Amino acid sequence: MTGLFVTFEGIEGSGKTTQISMVAAYLESRRIPCLATSEPGGSNLGRTLRKLLLEKSGLHISARSELLLFAADRAQHVEEIIFPALQEGRVVLCDRFSDATTVYQGYGRGLDLDMIDRINDFAAQSLRPGITVLFDMNPERGLDRVRRRDADSPAGPDDRFEVERIEFHQRVREGYLTLAEQEPQRFRVVDADRDIDAVFSDVVAALEGVLGE
Ligand code: TMP
Repeated sequence: MTGLFVTFEGIEGSGKTTQISMVAAYLESRRIPCLATSEPGGSNLGRTLRKLLLEKSGLHISARSELLLFAADRAQHVEEIIFPALQEGRVVLCDRFSDATTVYQGYGRGLDLDMIDRINDFAAQSLRPGITVLFDMNPERGLDRVRRRDADSPAGPDDRFEVERIEFHQRVREGYLTLAEQEPQRFRVVDADRDIDAVFSDVVAALEGVLGE
């Protein structure tokens, strides 16, 4: 596999989606071939799974089913989209990956972390990110941003995760910080509670380190 696999993680409202488009534009300006993609929903099957997983349709989804649906989304995404792009030598920028399952379904929902590791490994065919940028911020601030955005959007309010209690999002944040402590060589933690350009310059600095290698 010749490309570089970069993942972006963080709580809701941490601004990662905006930063990923900025990184994609930056890489394109440097003529570095890249692909920006996301989970859940990066493949055709994934787009259907995303609706099931995120829409507040009243459909009850148990924690274990939720875990397996995210895993199914990842399995399809890795095989159909990520592996081929890496084989072409691209830098793949992925908005959420296995760490999201570890923190949301593990730290958030309370499912067994070892089991999640095994399921993640199976779904991703053992693919692991070369580098993970974690956008860290206080969940109250992040959710505040999301609610303001929802209020402006005709699509309307919250998805199944946004409506979780603040304690859930605090466990998610702590989970991410724990993972970053466990794997300091893979994670770059960026303070996301700053203006867009300040955050972006940290992200570029983190990427320059690995792109130069
Ligand atoms: P996003 O596309 O706005 O980042 O939303 C995806 C939501 O799905 C977000 O609340 C995190 C959640 N999620 C999980 O719970 N587990 C996962 O494995 C992934 C990829 C996302």
